[in-house]
Amino acid sequence: MIVLDKKNKVFTLHTQNTTYQMKADQYNVLIHTYYGPRISGGDLSYLVRYADRACAPNPVEAGPDRTYSLNTIPQEYSTCGVGDFRLPSIELELPCGSCSADLRYTGFELRQGKYALEGLPAFRGTDKDAETLVLLLEDTAAQVKVELYYGVFEEYDLITRAVRVVNQGGQTVRLRQCTSLCLDLLRTDLDLITFNGCHLMERSPDRAPLRSGVQGVGSVRGTSSHQHNPFVILCDHNADEDHGFCCGAMLLYSGNFQAQVESSQYSNARLVMGINPHQFCWTLEPGESFTAPEGALVCSPSGFGQMSRQFHRSIREHLIQDPFQGKRRPVLINNWEATYFNFDADKLVNFAKTAAPLGIELLVMDDGWFGKRDDDNSGLGDWTVNQKKLPGGLEALVPRIRELGMSFGIWIEPEMVNEDSQFYREHPDWAFRIPNRTPARGRNQLVLDFSRSDVRAHVYRQIKAVLSSADITYVKWDMNRSLSDVWSAALPARRQGEVFHRYILGVYEMLDQLRRDFPYILIEGCAGGGGRFDAGMLCYTPQIWCSDNTDAIDRLRIQYGTSFGYPISAMGAHVSAVPNEANGRVTPIGTRGVAAMAGTFGYEMDPNKTSPEEKEAIKEQVAFFKEHYDLIQRGDYYRLTDPFQNGPYTAWEHVSPDRREALVSLVSGTIHAAAPFYTLQLKGLDPQLTYQVNGEGIWPGDVLMNAGYPLPVFWNDYQSMQLLLSAI
Ligand code: GLA
Repeated sequence: MIVLDKKNKVFTLHTQNTTYQMKADQYNVLIHTYYGPRISGGDLSYLVRYADRACAPNPVEAGPDRTYSLNTIPQEYSTCGVGDFRLPSIELELPCGSCSADLRYTGFELRQGKYALEGLPAFRGTDKDAETLVLLLEDTAAQVKVELYYGVFEEYDLITRAVRVVNQGGQTVRLRQCTSLCLDLLRTDLDLITFNGCHLMERSPDRAPLRSGVQGVGSVRGTSSHQHNPFVILCDHNADEDHGFCCGAMLLYSGNFQAQVESSQYSNARLVMGINPHQFCWTLEPGESFTAPEGALVCSPSGFGQMSRQFHRSIREHLIQDPFQGKRRPVLINNWEATYFNFDADKLVNFAKTAAPLGIELLVMDDGWFGKRDDDNSGLGDWTVNQKKLPGGLEALVPRIRELGMSFGIWIEPEMVNEDSQFYREHPDWAFRIPNRTPARGRNQLVLDFSRSDVRAHVYRQIKAVLSSADITYVKWDMNRSLSDVWSAALPARRQGEVFHRYILGVYEMLDQLRRDFPYILIEGCAGGGGRFDAGMLCYTPQIWCSDNTDAIDRLRIQYGTSFGYPISAMGAHVSAVPNEANGRVTPIGTRGVAAMAGTFGYEMDPNKTSPEEKEAIKEQVAFFKEHYDLIQRGDYYRLTDPFQNGPYTAWEHVSPDRREALVSLVSGTIHAAAPFYTLQLKGLDPQLTYQVNGEGIWPGDVLMNAGYPLPVFWNDYQSMQLLLSAI
């Protein structure tokens, strides 16, 4: 609910559990007054206090009042060069060469429903579930208008943000920075949590108290990256899963980003998040505008669990696009780890022959089906079927798979090219390269200039022909290197600072085109595993391959970290063969199944190399997953333990929205003799209800949540168990 106090220019955004407030003050500076647990409202600007602080410039409007300074008040969208020395949200390079911005409130617009962003991913909402507030700011000297967009999803505690900058003057203005969100909190006694890692070990939480100065994460790789995720949390020092203030900030963007927090002198923490200003500069000719990607905030007064569940619901119900929003996704088998490039049509058909009777529904043919592609040194760019491996093409192969009762999916990597390819020989100038430099290779491939529509159109034509040639219902869109040598032959020198952003806009455009031309195709995002796992991609790809590390035990950590911002239904997770190819670990098939079920669930192994016992286990897992699909994929998710603590076990829980059903999953760690007895306290149950556990014992909800469930003593490392609870 958006509450306006027009007279005092106070704007209050209420969600079910939170309140967010801004006010245009006596000089029409838009100040931020409050973000936290829901309160009745009123004018909270009394929280902002003024003192004559040395070295703090005073704007001319304040006259002799030396207590008023942009450098000490909490700003809703921070400026630069005119008296606020903290992190800027916007930096304008003006025709005179100065870099500055000075914004004043000029008006507002209120709309039912949720604003949309042309060409950019965004949460969607109807008149029933969302409202939009637009606050209009102006820099009169620069003749630049800034529109701040707020989407309020009350039931989800979700506040989305976006920014549009318009050059209203007659001269060229250059945007050197334009962040998506700025959040000035009137306190610094907070922790910052970021999600970091590397290829094979993505999104490990890193938590530290704010210290003076600037701290943050970002990416300059052209992707959101394995290394840092565009999702951060600010929270109370003692916040945990169930207690304390926490605020999650997410960027719906898959390119270079930056999230920074400045803890400044007078107890103010400023978070700014948006496109990374490094190598960014956007030229705005008279009349032109620029829209920054969407940011999203969820604040929880009661710990991380609640915050995550609100993000999960928001993503599932307002970001994932139809028809996949509510649609069941298939249990798949992917041939990558089983065959790498070494497969042919008969091998794939033999996979399907064994997999189909186990209940697996989709066969995904991974890298290696096209061009001259027998290893990762050649072929990228030639999206035509390799007739040696697949004689007769997909027209011949896919019906054979369909006859066995399975659907068919395919891997592509449209953004890349190998120099050893027909494509590159014909269009060497379509890959990024800086004049007079030889571009660096990554996985022996170059990056195509996706900022160019002619390049995209050429690639898309090939991909469209492939997808139209057979009954294909799934695409894995991969992207296997970071961007270097970024320079576009299609743009003049002064516009080269636009290329990284135009590249990702190009990716979004092609993904959107793919979605529109083939609405029934499920697209899974991927970037060398989880290198582009972000909410921007989720708008086009309902699921994303979480990591190339498929070891069940490492996956507990990767999926745990990922779950802070993103739902189970977004996390690509498969059971693979042992010893695991990433770390050599051997885990039981049951444990691998339990871990993969905390994601989209599928297999990544040769089904013909499994024993009869393993086949039986797979059949049971698939049947179990299908039976409890709604509970797992759409239920509320509770983290019961933190796998980074190296405790005796890792556990998590899915609870149905009506709290009548729950599934607890648990994987034990390394085992020790003379182990103590453990009791697991469940969460999210109805204390008034009584539950039957695994069709056997009867337990009251309040007992299970407080006294707990007695765990068995595990024999051997990495065992697993699941408890299915139904209210009686
Ligand atoms: C990336 C993906 C893998 C696989 C290979 C194929 O590494 O993450 O799952 O598709 O590419 O080359």
